[in-house]
Amino acid sequence: MLTFIDILINFCVNFADPMDFIPANIKPYLNFIHPPLMWILLATSLYAMYLGFQIRKTRSATGDEKKKLIQGKYNIRHHQIGSIVLAVMVLGSIGGMAATYVNNGKLFFGPHLLAGLGMTGLIAVSASLSPYMQKGMDWARYSHIGINLVIVGLFGWQALSGVEILQRIISKM
Ligand code: HEM
Ligand code: HEM
Repeated sequence: MLTFIDILINFCVNFADPMDFIPANIKPYLNFIHPPLMWILLATSLYAMYLGFQIRKTRSATGDEKKKLIQGKYNIRHHQIGSIVLAVMVLGSIGGMAATYVNNGKLFFGPHLLAGLGMTGLIAVSASLSPYMQKGMDWARYSHIGINLVIVGLFGWQALSGVEILQRIISKM
């Protein structure tokens, strides 16, 4: 009969190698969570970009057009979608590394890893500009736009290199 101490020792031994917690036949399937999640995130990011540029359009509009655009509540919607993009990008990137590590016992120091970590850092900086943008600071607005355009550009690259990685994984299964 297993005593509490046995369970505790078992836990501690396994904790030394957390990968043993995940059954071997489950591990390969972890490779199929990150790619579709990131494709959905790419679409969501493009939507966030659209909402962001609608904020600018609203600000520069006049008369009836302005009234109509204000009803779109683009600033609120952009902030909400932007926050989701921030959270999913950070967790999705960590998830990609976790899936890679669980299956290979290491990470691959290549362009997909570097661009992915770069984007994850940049989106944090971009989001941190929110209070300054809300105070109407132009430097924060232009930094936010510039950083996010770089992120969207890198995202296109990640989508292509990600599919290549996925094809390699499938061909080895
Ligand atoms: C857009 C579509 C994307 C696809 C199809 C894709 C696909 C993949 C695949 C197949 C892997 C190998 C591990 C796994 O299967 O989970 C991977 C790893 C990884 N991905 Fe992505 N990815 C995409 C976007 C992104 C983005 C946007 C980021 C970061 C913001 C990112 C960050 C990472 C990181 C850091 C790894 C670990 C790399 C390594 O250690 O080799 N990926 N990705
Ligand atoms: C793909 C990612 C994103 C793109 C392309 C983008 C783009 C933009 C653009 C073009 C603007 C208008 C700037 C101006 O007022 O002149 C803006 C504003 C703003 N963004 Fe983003 N953004 C992105 C992600 C985010 C994220 C992750 C957050 C925060 C979590 C965020 C929060 C804000 C806020 C608070 C504003 C100011 C809204 C206002 O004036 O009320 N954005 N963004």
